[in-house]
Amino acid sequence: MKKLFIETLGCAMNVRDSEHMIAELNQKESYELTTNADDADLIIINTCSVREKPVSKLFSELGQFKKVRKSGAKIGVAGCTASHLGEDIIKRAPYVDFVIGARNVSKITEVIDKKHSIEIDTSYDESTYMFGEFRSNSLKAMVNISIGCDKQCSFCIVPITRGEEISIPSNLIVQEVKKAVDSGAKEVTLLGQNVNNYGRRFSSSDSGAKNFTELLREVSKIDGLERIRFSSPHPLHMDNEFLEEFASNPKICKQIHVPLQSGSTRLLKEMKRGYTKEWFLDRCEKIKKLVPNVAISTDIIVGFPGESEEDFEDTLDVLERVRFDALFSFKYSARPHTAAAEYIEQVDAAVASKRLQKLQARHKEIQKEIMDAQIGSSVEVLFEELKSDGKVAGRSDEGRLIMVDGSEELLDKILNVKIIKANITVLHGVI
Ligand code: SAH
Ligand code: F3S
Repeated sequence: MKKLFIETLGCAMNVRDSEHMIAELNQKESYELTTNADDADLIIINTCSVREKPVSKLFSELGQFKKVRKSGAKIGVAGCTASHLGEDIIKRAPYVDFVIGARNVSKITEVIDKKHSIEIDTSYDESTYMFGEFRSNSLKAMVNISIGCDKQCSFCIVPITRGEEISIPSNLIVQEVKKAVDSGAKEVTLLGQNVNNYGRRFSSSDSGAKNFTELLREVSKIDGLERIRFSSPHPLHMDNEFLEEFASNPKICKQIHVPLQSGSTRLLKEMKRGYTKEWFLDRCEKIKKLVPNVAISTDIIVGFPGESEEDFEDTLDVLERVRFDALFSFKYSARPHTAAAEYIEQVDAAVASKRLQKLQARHKEIQKEIMDAQIGSSVEVLFEELKSDGKVAGRSDEGRLIMVDGSEELLDKILNVKIIKANITVLHGVI
């Protein structure tokens, strides 16, 4: 049997794209997955281009693969960097056998057989393509609900690499979730770059559910499915109807990502995010009112062009008021073909680093307080992993990592746990 090494960088959509590529390859010829590049007949790196760092690392990593690969092994570059660099990858690294974009993954079986083939058409429509079945986690399934992104956030390269947004018809989504549940899934994460913009555009008129709230209702009717998560929504599209469904539907986990980017209304406008600081705070307040123990996570960019000390203070103010459960924070990185890369007032790198440190330090304190406050509470946990030290790990409804003493009989079960101890990343409890 041939061996496949696949490295996946970036977001959950990339993880699902890798699963799709594995499924498609296996339909043609069986592959065994390997974690050693030097052992593989086929090496694929599924790339991210959201920030510059992983892109610049790509070529050194490719050089490494070239050095260690078996004779005759093929090397392919997939994902967002493949979409935006295209044939430049092969020009710079001619030993790369193929380049396949983030919106062309269904073509994986074609590109592996054509030397130097490049499939990076970002208008290609894979929204109704029936991919083969492969899941790296049979208990927790990922299901795409849309491809591409129609927002034009001025810092973001994703609309350029993944193309325009097309929603997947709800009957296909429901069919896929049912299939996953039949094979043992208890939890599903609905994926898209902007999930609550669902229904904006379909490629066929027979689409079923017309918006994200309707889709959530449809999916939650599936028997045997116990938990629904989604990633990621956009604050702009968090209307009351959606938030009320989020709060009242017992299958929807009480964890929500509300990506802030900046707390300054002036910068949010420059970022073309479409909301203000007040709207963001209002939505988070509403979420907390509807779901008191909710876990809200966010993404923040510091050092966006023109960010003043005052703008940054606004970001700190939102951090203080919302008190996020989790924070993914980044220094702004200028990306090719994006509007913000042309903005002249770039922020000094040292200033941006200092702001990032300050933001992360304050978040850590808040996170500790949030975790400590969980002691004494009871949460529902889906147990998924046996640890070597007699502990079993799982996630609470709110997505928090929980550990209890126990054995494998807890695995795949949802049980009530009382929290007795907390640290910044883990809660310890008893059943
Ligand atoms: N819609 C997607 C966003 C993908 S990009 C989602 O909701 O997951 C993921 C995060 O990367 C963004 O929310 C943003 O915080 C960050 N990001 C995007 N472009 C960036 C850039 N040019 N520099 C720094 N961070 C960026
Ligand atoms: Fe990027 Fe904004 Fe879409 S962050 S993925 S353009 S919602």
